[in-house]
Amino acid sequence: MSHEGTYEMRVVSIDKVSEYEGIEIVIKGWVRHRRSSGKLGFITVRDGSGDLQVIVSKGVVGDEQFAACGRLTQESSLIVQGMVRKDDRAPGGYELDVSYLEVIQIAEPFPIQPKEHGVGFLMEHRHLWLRSNRQHAILKIRHQIIRACRNFFDDRGFTLIDTPIFTPNACEGTTTLFQTQYFDQIAYLAQSGQLYGEAAAAAFGKIYCFGPTFRAEKSKTRRHLMEFWMVEPEVAFAELTDVMQLAEDLVAAVLREVLIHRKPELQVLERDIDRLEAMMPPFPRITYEEAVETLQHKGIAIQFGDDFGGDDETILANEFDRPVIIHRYPAAAKAFYMAKDPERPELALCMDMLAPEGYGEIIGGGQRIHQLEVLSDQIRAHGLPEEAFKWYVDLRRYGTVPHAGFGMGIERVVSWICGLDHVRETIPFPRMLYTLYP
Ligand code: 4AD
Ligand code: MG
Repeated sequence: MSHEGTYEMRVVSIDKVSEYEGIEIVIKGWVRHRRSSGKLGFITVRDGSGDLQVIVSKGVVGDEQFAACGRLTQESSLIVQGMVRKDDRAPGGYELDVSYLEVIQIAEPFPIQPKEHGVGFLMEHRHLWLRSNRQHAILKIRHQIIRACRNFFDDRGFTLIDTPIFTPNACEGTTTLFQTQYFDQIAYLAQSGQLYGEAAAAAFGKIYCFGPTFRAEKSKTRRHLMEFWMVEPEVAFAELTDVMQLAEDLVAAVLREVLIHRKPELQVLERDIDRLEAMMPPFPRITYEEAVETLQHKGIAIQFGDDFGGDDETILANEFDRPVIIHRYPAAAKAFYMAKDPERPELALCMDMLAPEGYGEIIGGGQRIHQLEVLSDQIRAHGLPEEAFKWYVDLRRYGTVPHAGFGMGIERVVSWICGLDHVRETIPFPRMLYTLYP
C-alpha cells in the first residue's frame, strides 16, 4: 500500500465485501467500536453501507501502526487495507485481516455513547445522532419510500413538476402560514404544491410534485412538523373514486418496495414485519358519516360536522388491520377548492387515508371545483384575496375539466412503516415548534 492515492483502485463499500473473498481491498470509514487483546486489535468499522469487523495484528502491521490502532476512539476516521476472509461467526459473515492502516483523525470523545440518552440531548446532537444504527435504518427506509413514490408515478406516465416554495397565496387555510418578506412584497412558504399542480395537470394530463411544504402548526404533537415533504399527484379528467384508487395503489406499492428492499432495516427497528405484510389492498373505504357513527358507538361525543382529532383517528384506524379511506367529509370544514357532492352538497368530494396502528392521516385529497362561477363564489365566501387567486381561477376559463389529486406526507408514512413513536426521527433535521437547531 502506498500513500500516493492508489486507494481508489480497490476501495470497496462494506455491503459488497462478500464479493471480494480472498482479495485485498480498501475500506474507508469510521470506528464504531474497538477492543484489543494482546497483540490483536478488533475494530468494528462502519462506512455508511454497513459494519465490518477488521482485525489488526501487531505482527503484520508493525509496532507503529498497532500503536495507532490502540489510540482509535469511537468515530475516529480511518482507511484500512486487508484481505477479506469468510468467517461464519462474524456479524456480516466476513472479516478483514488488515495489512495496512491509516488514521485520518482520532475523534474527540463522542457525545453519543452506547447507552440511554434523553430525546432533548439526542435532538441537540442530531448531526451526530444520524450515525447511529436506528437513525440510519429509518433514513434508509425513508429513501426507499421516496424512491418507490417516484418510480410509481414515473412508471405510470406522470410528469414531475416542481412547484414554487415562495407563494403569494394560501392553499390550506390561513392559520398555518409562514409569512416572509419578499423584497417589497409579502410571500408565504408553500403549504402544498396543489394549486400549481392543477395548472400543470391541464398542461400535462398527469403530474406529481414532490417537495418540502411548510405549516406553522402551533401544536406539539407526534404527527406534526413545521417543514415536511409531500408527494402530490394531480390528474386531469379524474374524479374522487379515481384518486382513491390511485392512493391505494401508491401506498400498496410503497409498502411492497420497503418489504422487498429494507427488511434488514425493519429488523433493526424491531418492526413487526408480518403485520406490515398483511396490510395489502383492497383497503376499506367508509364515509365520514359512517366514521362518525363508529365513533359514537364507541362512546365518543362527536356529531356530524366535527373534525376528527388525533385520538378519533386512532380509534377509527384501530377498527382495521390495514389503511382505511374515509371520504365525503362535511364541506363546511374543508378547503375552498374542494368540489361538492352533487347529490349531497353539504359534503365535499374529498378523502383521507388513515394508517393503521394509530398513525392517523397519511393522505388527504379529492376532487377540485372545476366550474368558474362555483370557484369564484368559494374564494369570496372564504374571504380569500381574489387578486392572488386570479391565475388559479383562470384555469377554469380555458378548457376546464373535472380533476382530482391528493397529497401524501412522507414523514407520516415513514413513521408508520418504521413503527416510530414520533415523526421527529423520520426526517434528517426536523423543524418543530421549539427546534430549529441544528
Ligand atoms: O391534508 P393536507 O393538508 O392536504 C393538502 O395539503 C392538499 N393540498 C394535498 C393535495 O390534495 N394535493 O396534507 C396532506 C398530507 C397529510 O395527509 C399528512 O400526511 C401530511 O400531508 N401533513 C403533515 N405531515 C407532517 N406535518 C404536518 N404538519 C403535516 N400536515 C400535513
Ligand atoms: Mg388533511
